Amino acid sequence: MNSVASPLVDIDWTVFHPSRPQALRHGLSGHPLLQTGQLVELGKRFRGTRRWFAFNNDAGADADFDHANTLFPCSRSFVDAIRSISDAKAWVLLRHIQADPTYRELVDMVLDSIKPGIEARDPGMFYRAGWIFAASPNTTTPFHIDRDHVVLLQISGSKAIYVWDSDDAYVVSDRARDCFHTSHDLKLVQWREEFRQRAHLFQLQPGTGVYIPQASAHMVETSDEASITISFSYGTHATRRSAMLHVVRDLLYRAGITPPAVGRSRVFDRMAYAFGKAMVAVGGPGSRPPACPSLRRRHAYAVSD
Ligand SMILES: [Fe+2]
Repeated sequence: MNSVASPLVDIDWTVFHPSRPQALRHGLSGHPLLQTGQLVELGKRFRGTRRWFAFNNDAGADADFDHANTLFPCSRSFVDAIRSISDAKAWVLLRHIQADPTYRELVDMVLDSIKPGIEARDPGMFYRAGWIFAASPNTTTPFHIDRDHVVLLQISGSKAIYVWDSDDAYVVSDRARDCFHTSHDLKLVQWREEFRQRAHLFQLQPGTGVYIPQASAHMVETSDEASITISFSYGTHATRRSAMLHVVRDLLYRAGITPPAVGRSRVFDRMAYAFGKAMVAVGGPGSRPPACPSLRRRHAYAVSD
């Protein structure tokens, strides 16, 4: 009997574009490493590290995401919050799960499965990372952008995720992106309620997910049930180039020069990229944190946020 196995992550490659948000389906909801008992064990192994981040569910879409853990402290231990996420009133993140050998295999399994489709349109996959989110009912992930592309899979519970176009400068200005890539600073990424009507809204259930491009802002609200989500992030030649251009733009702004928006001038972008690469190679701006370490070196796996 012939049978065709379902893909681990099912993306419609006929419409996939690296810069556009897209719904997807997946088969990971029943994976043993994503059940509460194993997540608690991973949490114990991460004790004493910086791979934890948590806050309580008083944080809204407008919260300062970078400092939400101190502005909205979680009253429970991280492990206890994951164990009883339904009533913990908490948002808990286990980050850089690729640092754990068992979970690194999961990161590789998922990203390897979609790599051919990605590489055909957006080559150079590197800086792989995995992130697990446990959220109590009625919890919000503040409005933000990320440094890399993200493939987000809903494991249990349901949530609404708002994703904005990657070139929507009305919700996140080019200047805000400059600061973010240079300083890992979200202070110019500011939420406004009116943004909702400009977003792509994805209602996620177990077995569904969404691809979020590097520059696309997003904000998440869980429903009245607890939620477990895993996401996988990666950079490519294009994301690294874009980050580099923002670092150069930041430098020019500080020198009193207003450069064209990224993508507006092919000539400027080409020159800026050459300059950015040279700058990073000699240890200048962009070569060390808070800029992303992936600008200096193409690490196979992420070494920091
Ligand atoms: Fe994100």
